[in-house]
Amino acid sequence: MSTAATRVPLVVDCDTGIDDSLALLYAAASPEVELVAATCVAGNVDARQVAENTRAVLALAGREDVEVALGREVPLVRPLRTTPETHGLRGIGWAELPPARAPLSARHAADLIVAEARRRPGAVTLVTIGPLTNLAVAVLREPELPRLLRRLVLMGGSYRSAGNTAPTTEWNVTVDPEAARIVFTAFGAPEVVAAREAAGLAGRPLALGLDVTERAKMLPRHLAALAGRAGDDPAAAEARVRSAAAPAPANPVVRYLTDALRFYMEFHSRNDGFYGAFVHDPLALAAALDPALVRSEPLAVDVELGGTLTTGETVADWRRTWQRPANLDVGVEVDGAAFFERFVERVGGLAADRAAVSS
Ligand code: RIB
Ligand code: CA
Repeated sequence: MSTAATRVPLVVDCDTGIDDSLALLYAAASPEVELVAATCVAGNVDARQVAENTRAVLALAGREDVEVALGREVPLVRPLRTTPETHGLRGIGWAELPPARAPLSARHAADLIVAEARRRPGAVTLVTIGPLTNLAVAVLREPELPRLLRRLVLMGGSYRSAGNTAPTTEWNVTVDPEAARIVFTAFGAPEVVAAREAAGLAGRPLALGLDVTERAKMLPRHLAALAGRAGDDPAAAEARVRSAAAPAPANPVVRYLTDALRFYMEFHSRNDGFYGAFVHDPLALAAALDPALVRSEPLAVDVELGGTLTTGETVADWRRTWQRPANLDVGVEVDGAAFFERFVERVGGLAADRAAVSS
């Protein structure tokens, strides 16, 4: 049983989006987490919509108490690009949620990240599941930040797999490649890694790219299992995630998931040839809570900023041709079955709790 003293203080930096919302639900459903705050960055949709979605999803989870802060509304130097075709115009697919009632934090996202790290040195885990713009601003404001965080886990990059944005690039890094390079350099500097290891902390950030997150394919059967865990109708949930003509599930969390994921699965069916969804962000969140879910390798990684075809590519030196020290721990394998089992159990359990509250 987790107690307040043993829970992991967590800040999630997100561009809520459909899979971001699954990560937020997973965090809210995880007893070992002290969900300190969610910080919002422009990416899948504009930052203000991200903040709206983030507060609405936390309210769905019964966590309107969690501080939500708005961050950068544009990348560091490039114009913002969003992806309504992937996550829907508002970023939560076909789902509808009541407007958020909880106010936005008065703090800027970057200031919140710095302040929470300073308040409890070595205690706070930061998980980034969107572009790295907020974190880049935070580390520029507080160069000590890499020594103050307990751990940085980031969903981003593609280290030896095809890209999902350009042929060799992944979305979070491509939206703001300058931010990614600042973060990879600041958090992976040899003196920082050595100081962190001397303090008993993980030396390098854990970078979970498409190489591992695209091993986690959420399928309609997972929604059926989650509905069953929630005490809802498994067949109805599977029908709804396949078609809007099916009745909406009774459970509010199950209904949200089926409507949000139906959009995401339709997207993957058109673009990736399967009716399901790569759920990048909840996998990254789960790995931050339990690093045993993934196997990683220390690598020297840099970010292409000037390529005509490859800007935003995370260039990984697998054969150590640069002779540079490793700056990231890059995920290479994941226990997808264990992740889905945990996701269904935890978020299904949250859904059951929320049904009890809303009935
Ligand atoms: O490339 C996948 C990442 O980009 C995920 O975080 C998804 O939410 C999008 O932001
Ligand atoms: Ca995201």
